[in-house]
Amino acid sequence: MLLLALAVLAPACTAGASGVRGKPGAAGVRDPYFPRLGNGGYDVTHYDLTLDVGKDAKTLSGTARITARATQDLSSFNLDLAGLKVESASVEGRPAAVSRAADELTLRPDIEVQDRLRRGRTFRTVVHYSGTPKTITDPDDSEEGWLPTADGAVALGEPTGSMAWFPGNNHPSDKATYDLSVTVPEGLTAVSNGVLTGRPATAEGRTTYRWHTAEPMASYLATLAVGRFETKTSTMAGGITVFTAVDPESAGASAATLARVPEVVKWEAAHFGPYPFSATGAIVERKGDAGYALETQNRPFFPGPPSVGLLVHEMAHQWFGDSVTPASWRDMWLNEGLATYAEWLWEEEKEDTPAQESFDEAYADDDNWAFPPADPPSASNISDPPVYGRGAMVIHKVREAVDDDERFFALLAGWTKARRHGNATTADFTAYVEKATGLDLTELWKDWLYGGSRPAADG
Ligand code: TRP
Ligand code: ZN
Repeated sequence: MLLLALAVLAPACTAGASGVRGKPGAAGVRDPYFPRLGNGGYDVTHYDLTLDVGKDAKTLSGTARITARATQDLSSFNLDLAGLKVESASVEGRPAAVSRAADELTLRPDIEVQDRLRRGRTFRTVVHYSGTPKTITDPDDSEEGWLPTADGAVALGEPTGSMAWFPGNNHPSDKATYDLSVTVPEGLTAVSNGVLTGRPATAEGRTTYRWHTAEPMASYLATLAVGRFETKTSTMAGGITVFTAVDPESAGASAATLARVPEVVKWEAAHFGPYPFSATGAIVERKGDAGYALETQNRPFFPGPPSVGLLVHEMAHQWFGDSVTPASWRDMWLNEGLATYAEWLWEEEKEDTPAQESFDEAYADDDNWAFPPADPPSASNISDPPVYGRGAMVIHKVREAVDDDERFFALLAGWTKARRHGNATTADFTAYVEKATGLDLTELWKDWLYGGSRPAADG
């Protein structure tokens, strides 16, 4: 019976009467650690999210308007969404059927719309959804997604959490621009990436904030913080908007570090190339809210008053991670190794601790030798010490090989220029370094990046 049914249906799937020849988009992009993240068959260019945040930031009702370009002829396609209820969806203005399995939504437009979803075509999808957004526990037991705070909530998305608050193509390989219109109870502030467009508008006890992200952003870097915040806006050299939002309880202890945001951005630009975005700043919660900092685009998130070193780290991610984004979660060391090396450089130039000393300390730490940075053994290890410490050691070894700081910093700036607002793999990085320097670094990569055992420190 089943076989017969398939035989009858098969021709209709490949070429229907209306000429539909599309196939379903894949349910994942085969990330080595999170195979179900992201979806095949299309590329999102823009997310336009309208969110209504309920009392105490426990509930959400939203509309996601997604503009995407088909990368194959599509009969249906998936979006990633964890929890929340889908009320309805449409594609190209016409109702689409929605089915759901775990964190995968499948949208199947009617036959006429399917006929239009040809490779290369841009199409619009609208999803209405609502519910109680959830906190996601990662394979390494860290929490992300929608995190309640003392006076609201914050959305953090590394590596999977954006699907807890909006449907999309949730993988770093698909970057897009964003508009976010968020309505919150009066008295609370909604802070996100990018720049505020217009003044917040209050009506009937609710205030609407509109945020615009003009530069491409990976979904894991999108954030929304709802709560009581002290906000400050200024403009730094180059016309970059500096927007900080600080929980009042953290304001005093944050002030000195946050005053240095322009200095840190300028110092990093001198080493890594021009700052890649039109806005910067920070979001600071109070201690006890979320356990870690995150390099949310334009505006890193801190779970409490940050040290200058942590600010240097998260701000360095704006180049390494946010502008140049890993192609998959295997390439995480490109983020963390370079952001950690930024800290070593800062300490070298500002605090008289040579990077060599930081290297020696990292080298001596057994935790950094659990696995090679370019190959974490599982999804639960992508934020482990080798990705940070040993990743930074790789960069230090490259600096040694180049043996000229001016050329080394030009190498880093050349990398951020070549891959600006794009994606990169580890192989892209090693190929770039070898081409730019003219050096054969096969042994360096073998020993420091891929090797299982600890090489001699001066090897
Ligand atoms: N990537 C963040 C940083 O380096 C830290 C981070 C985010 C993290 N999520 C995590 C660390 C989960 C450990 C576990 O700034
Ligand atoms: Zn980091």
